[in-house]
Amino acid sequence: MAYNLLKGKKGIIFGALDEKSIAWRTALRCHEEGAQLVLSNAPVALRMGEINKLAEATNAPVIGADVTNMDDLKKLFEESVKHFGGGIDFILHSIGMGLNVRKGKHYTEMDYEWNKKTNDISATSLHRVLRTAWDLDALNEGGSVVALTYIAAQRVFPDYNEMADAKALLESITRSFGYHYGVKKKVRVNTISQSPTRTTAGSGVKGFDGFIDYAEKMSPLGNASADQCADYCVTLFSDLTKMVTMQNLFHDGGFSFTGVTEAVIKQMEK
Ligand SMILES: NC(=O)c1ccc[n+]([C@@H]2O[C@H](COP(=O)([O-])OP(=O)(O)OC[C@H]3O[C@@H](n4cnc5c(N)ncnc54)[C@H](O)[C@@H]3O)[C@@H](O)[C@H]2O)c1
Repeated sequence: MAYNLLKGKKGIIFGALDEKSIAWRTALRCHEEGAQLVLSNAPVALRMGEINKLAEATNAPVIGADVTNMDDLKKLFEESVKHFGGGIDFILHSIGMGLNVRKGKHYTEMDYEWNKKTNDISATSLHRVLRTAWDLDALNEGGSVVALTYIAAQRVFPDYNEMADAKALLESITRSFGYHYGVKKKVRVNTISQSPTRTTAGSGVKGFDGFIDYAEKMSPLGNASADQCADYCVTLFSDLTKMVTMQNLFHDGGFSFTGVTEAVIKQMEK
């Protein structure tokens, strides 16, 4: 059901790779709620061609940008402002890549060159995006920026590997830049800490299948889906959450504050 919560708003959605992507689901929901969109992803992801289906469904142009490249980001923001005929109201940063994770390197044997790239793509990129918007004064007063994170930034989940450190940095940049953008232009910056979700990035984590079942059993409401995450993003982009900023917001069915559940105890007693 649509509520017109984003009527007249304009946003950039980073990170829609395929229809399972959290960014893909969010773009569809934002469109449904009346927003105008620009879609962006890394040039290598665009070559897959999948995103063109989303572009058609949401009537949005696709502008490629590698988030580690400031020239790409500048071009993306300039072209977006031109396309919208004015400033941007919201941004979704739905980007992650762990090179050590991908190449099966254990946390204790980390390759530091890969790790630098992981942190740049997954965390510093949020600073780069905010900085580009700041320099071009591309975000409207009261705008909203959301990035996606995971609870491994705050508690140990061993197989999440270097991505735990990257997410901790992402959450810190959210607070630090959120402060400055709040003072400058009442722009909100928040992270959503999402349940494990079956996507390309999610499934790259070792032992993901066992883990997603465990999280389901450990959450009073069960795991939150990508579509439910999209709903939550819509609320944060809307005018109904104008005073929420610099927060890490758990969207995990209660997992983060649960010590144990009957379902897990039953499993242990088997
Ligand atoms: N899936 C989960 O279990 C889960 C849980 C919590 C948080 N998250 C986070 O949600 C976000 C979205 O991931 P997803 O699960 O939808 O997976 P996904 O694989 O669909 O999305 C990740 C996106 O990052 C993009 N990307 C990678 N390198 C890039 C670069 N250099 N420049 C621009 N874009 C680049 C990819 O092309 C892809 O579209 C990530 O930040 C992820 O860490 C995922």
